[in-house]
Amino acid sequence: MDTYKFRKQIHKLPGKVIHHVPLPEPQVVEGHGARVRIGEICKACGYKHVLLVTDQTLQKLGYEQKIVQSLEEAGVVCSLFADIDSEPNIALIDTGRKMAMECQAECVIALGGGSVMDTCKMIAAGVKMPHLKTKTLLRKFLVVPGKTLPMITVPSTAGTGAEVTVGAVVTNARGTKGSTVLVGLDVTHVILDSELTIHAPQLVTAACGMDALSHVVEGTLSDVAVYVEDAYHSLEGVRLILQHLPVVMREPENIESRLAMCRAAMYGGNAINTQLAGYIHAFAHSIGAKYHIPHGQAITLMMLPVMEYQKEVCLEKYAIMARYCHLVEESASDNEAAECFLQAVRELIVTCGLDKLELPVQPADYEELTRMVAADSINYSAPMTFSNEDIVKVLERVTKV
Ligand SMILES: [Fe+2]
Repeated sequence: MDTYKFRKQIHKLPGKVIHHVPLPEPQVVEGHGARVRIGEICKACGYKHVLLVTDQTLQKLGYEQKIVQSLEEAGVVCSLFADIDSEPNIALIDTGRKMAMECQAECVIALGGGSVMDTCKMIAAGVKMPHLKTKTLLRKFLVVPGKTLPMITVPSTAGTGAEVTVGAVVTNARGTKGSTVLVGLDVTHVILDSELTIHAPQLVTAACGMDALSHVVEGTLSDVAVYVEDAYHSLEGVRLILQHLPVVMREPENIESRLAMCRAAMYGGNAINTQLAGYIHAFAHSIGAKYHIPHGQAITLMMLPVMEYQKEVCLEKYAIMARYCHLVEESASDNEAAECFLQAVRELIVTCGLDKLELPVQPADYEELTRMVAADSINYSAPMTFSNEDIVKVLERVTKV
């Protein structure tokens, strides 16, 4: 069934709903090795005991040690939960909630990528609702009484923006992934530490960078009214990524560019919170789930096909981004500027070494994928509503021949 008319009618709804979700207003601490300041931050907040959560990979690299040491020096007791070895699920959240309650943690420190961040958000919320089982917390909107436990987020990749987003993606008891928006999420500090991203594998840097780019681009394109500051942050995110992602691909240890990418990724998180995503994500989620493609790679595959398909509708916004990033002279026409912007994205994908990704889609899957894309798209306020035919036309561009 083509849900086009229904989707078109409700397309502004997500943008209106999201405005009623209070957003965290974290203090941002930025620098190479900046996580050593966490001890003094916790001390200043008056915390006596905190829960530090990270994943097994980062623990093997010893990335949590500087945080543990700084907490020790500040006289703050730290319990460590370093067993995250998968995407968030009920068992991980249960363990974290139990630890946080047993040690009476006053704050959760999340060191890691999107999985650690999302697990910690659910832990920080669950502690405030001890009477509820974790599985009952997994709903579309989780309204936390007051606020969650305070969180300090320390992203180890420059990509997801999960350090500030109010959503958490968790696998439920049936093995299905679902997104929960936490109403009352209290991220008090974001620590942007380039020391954590500087040794990331090239593919991770590239795919995460493209994911971050998709957040700020889709935010800018969305049909959601936002404050000038939020719109500016998204544009600035686009500029930072176009300028600095090629640098970190060429010079992985360039601290200035690594920090710029961390900042851009955080702006991407703000874009998701305030402007929502769009069809690049609807397609990427669908082909990612169907063919088991990591998010950043699925995003890269879908970015140009979607952007080219909606060029006519988005011409002015593409031109705005091109002019903001100084890709063209002010006198250039919207059409020229828009084409320059698309060309910059094309070149960036090549620079990142992601232009040879295999095209995964098969015609036999069009029907199922179309349903998936249409269903996912109702979470966003995209600039145009794709009909089923539109969706298939975009799928054809990433079809294996
Ligand atoms: Fe994304």
